[in-house]
Amino acid sequence: VVVPLLLAEDLVATLPGDAGPHAVLAGVSLALQSGEIVDVRGPSGSGKTTMLRALARLLPGVSSARLALDGEPAEKVAPALWRARVALLPQRPAIVPGTVRDNLALPWTLRVRAGDSAPADAELAKALARVHLDVDLERDAARLSVGQAARVALLRVVLTRPRVLLLDEPDASLDDASADEVRAMTQEFAAAGGGVVRVRHHRGDGAASRVLSLAGGTLTEEPS
Ligand SMILES: Nc1ncnc2c1ncn2[C@@H]1O[C@H](COP(=O)(O)OP(=O)(O)O)[C@@H](O)[C@H]1O
Ligand SMILES: [Mg+2]
Repeated sequence: VVVPLLLAEDLVATLPGDAGPHAVLAGVSLALQSGEIVDVRGPSGSGKTTMLRALARLLPGVSSARLALDGEPAEKVAPALWRARVALLPQRPAIVPGTVRDNLALPWTLRVRAGDSAPADAELAKALARVHLDVDLERDAARLSVGQAARVALLRVVLTRPRVLLLDEPDASLDDASADEVRAMTQEFAAAGGGVVRVRHHRGDGAASRVLSLAGGTLTEEPS
C-alpha cells in the first residue's frame, strides 16, 4: 500500500453565515500522491479556498480534520511546521514593500525558519533566471507587473521547499505567457516529487493528473 503524500479524510468545516452556521465542507476526502497535480473546480462560493485553508491547517473552524503528511498524522506536527510543509499560495499573494530580494527572502524572517538563512543572492538570481524572470534582485517589487509578481510569489514558496503546494487560482489574472511560466514551475515542482492541489477555473492546461469537483461540500472525481 502506497502511503499518500497528503491524506485528508472527512474534512468538515462549519462557518458562520447570514442564515446561521453553514457547513462549507461536509466531508472532503483527498489522497494526493507525490508527483501529482490535482485540479479542483467548483462554482464560486463552493468552498475551494476554504478547503485549501483547511489542508494548510489555517482554518480554526474545522471540526473533524484527519490529515496526514507522508503518513504522519497532523496532531504530531506543530501547525507552523505543517504550514511550512503544506504551503498555501493565496489567490492574491502579498508582495511586501521592498526589493525582489526582500520578497524572495520573506519566508526566512518567520520564526519557523529561525536559524536557517535565506538563500544567497547567487541562488536567488539563478532561480529567477530558471523561471525566465528577467528582473534584478534590487528591483523595487512595487514595480513588478502582475505576471512578474505572481511568479515571484510562487518562486518564494517553491524556494522554501514544501512537500505540498496549494495554489488558489494561480493563473486567474495572468496573461498567457505568465500563466505558462506558472504552469511550468508547478510541473517542475511536481516532477521533483512534490504534490500540488490547484484551484482553477480556466480550461485544462494539460498539467493536471486528475480533476476533482467540489460541490455540496464534497469532492468528486470528474470523468475525464
Ligand atoms: N472566514 C469566513 N467566515 C464565514 N464564511 C466564510 C468565510 N470564508 C468563506 N466563507 C463562506 O464559505 C463559503 C465558501 O467560500 P470559499 O471557500 O471562499 O469559496 P470558493 O473559494 O469556492 O469561491 C462561501 O459561502 C463564503 O461566503
Ligand atoms: Mg476561492
